[in-house]
Amino acid sequence: MPSAHPLAPAWLTPRRDTDDLEAALLPADAHRDAQGRLVIGGVDVETLAAQHGTPLYVLSEADFRARARSFREAFSAAFAPETEVDVFYAGKAFLSTHVAGWAVEEGLCVDTASGGELALALAGGVPPKQIGLHGNNKSDAEIQRALDAGIGRIIADSLDELERISTLAVAAGTRAPVMLRLTPGVHASTHEYIATAHEDQKFGLSLTPALSAAGAPAADSDGAVAAGAPAADPASEDTAANPYLGSPAWTAASRALELPGVELRGLHAHIGSQIFEPAGFELAAQKLITFLARLRADHGVELPELDLGGGHGIAYTEADTPRDPESIAAALAATVKQACAEHGLQVPRISIEPGRAIVGPAGVTLYRVGVQKDVQVDAPDGSTTSRRYVAVDGGMSDNARGVLYDADYSAVLASRRVTGDHALSRIVGKHCESGDIVVRNVYLPTATARDDLLAVPATGAYCHSLSSNYNYLTRPAVVAVADGASQVLIRRETEQDMLGRDTGFAAR
Ligand SMILES: Cc1ncc(COP(=O)(O)O)c(C=O)c1O
Repeated sequence: MPSAHPLAPAWLTPRRDTDDLEAALLPADAHRDAQGRLVIGGVDVETLAAQHGTPLYVLSEADFRARARSFREAFSAAFAPETEVDVFYAGKAFLSTHVAGWAVEEGLCVDTASGGELALALAGGVPPKQIGLHGNNKSDAEIQRALDAGIGRIIADSLDELERISTLAVAAGTRAPVMLRLTPGVHASTHEYIATAHEDQKFGLSLTPALSAAGAPAADSDGAVAAGAPAADPASEDTAANPYLGSPAWTAASRALELPGVELRGLHAHIGSQIFEPAGFELAAQKLITFLARLRADHGVELPELDLGGGHGIAYTEADTPRDPESIAAALAATVKQACAEHGLQVPRISIEPGRAIVGPAGVTLYRVGVQKDVQVDAPDGSTTSRRYVAVDGGMSDNARGVLYDADYSAVLASRRVTGDHALSRIVGKHCESGDIVVRNVYLPTATARDDLLAVPATGAYCHSLSSNYNYLTRPAVVAVADGASQVLIRRETEQDMLGRDTGFAAR
């Protein structure tokens, strides 16, 4: 095996042939054909580029559908026979009418996060009862639209919003189905989570009582509970003082139960993104179930639903080793069933909201290689080495995750197979920003040349949906591939589209 480059991260395997390592990151129906071209959904990348241009978002329909199904089947099986599970595909990861339709055909619901996403889901034919609406600052118009459409749930994020939902629902002669978004004090990412009493973020309603004027908690909170800590004894809990009194979550839940236009269906929590281990989900679930038990003790109401959010992780590079939905579902189901049994509660109907884990690995972005430069760099060991910069015809406008989150990706030379020497390469875009990096570190064949096609795997989520027109680049098309054919889901933006928004200068 070749030796590692001094600038390469430790996880990056030096290589002569990229195929084996990248296969795990590509859609399940990707392979190389006899000419060495990458083929996805039965269509080779040169054909895709010739028909649709580059950069190009390519989505494997079969891979998307298989992942959607695997979440539904894994969670339904794990929670059976006690309860049923609804999988809400989180449309913020990527939404088009086709994708919304595929999700529904696979038995999923669709989670939206704005009036625009709601409009798209409805345009895609998603039955309104299978739509949820999120958002920390929903406008009255968005709430009204949700009520008019008769969607299945509005996830309320504040007391202010609850009041407005009720007022608008009463005016419309209805009661709105509402879930309350709580912040359980669990933040999870990849392998770890942190538990905290106080949440410094804009979403949801805290379980922790608000501080008194003196800065001390107005009442005891349930605080930060270590993972695996036993649930409270239900007998003593029923008689002890309510630890949530004075918390935004308790105030909102109590109010929701009184409001004439609100039908409080249950509780919701979303604890982070790119989560590999179930422990954070389990702890959040325990906390919500303890809260449900307290609601029953003090208000005599057993809420029928619990939404455990999204955030299930995927492999962006060889360093990532996410678990499959079965093992997450099994761990979570065991914890939820046990916590409910300890509190004497029926297991509520469960929902989850995976976005990235369904659409991320199904997507690949194709770019054409342009300018390449070998840049001299001082290595940490004091030596001087070089890094290859490979510029492509897109960049941070079609994949903002590198700039936003320092996200790592991988890449593969897709238009031909080349073995032999590889150079540590950085794939950069064509924008006027030095931070315009698509792939920070990857070994690409030194023979990579102008007009070769590069494929960046795992770009199905949060790439098109975060895309922009920065530097007036037109947004790429999104095409679906299946059974040897491609279909445009979202057409490439044109300069005319961009100029059409400019009202036009007329010299006086
Ligand atoms: C409330 C909520 N649900 C679901 C998701 C989807 O997360 P992911 O795509 O990581 O599964 C998000 C992402 O931000 C979210 O905020």
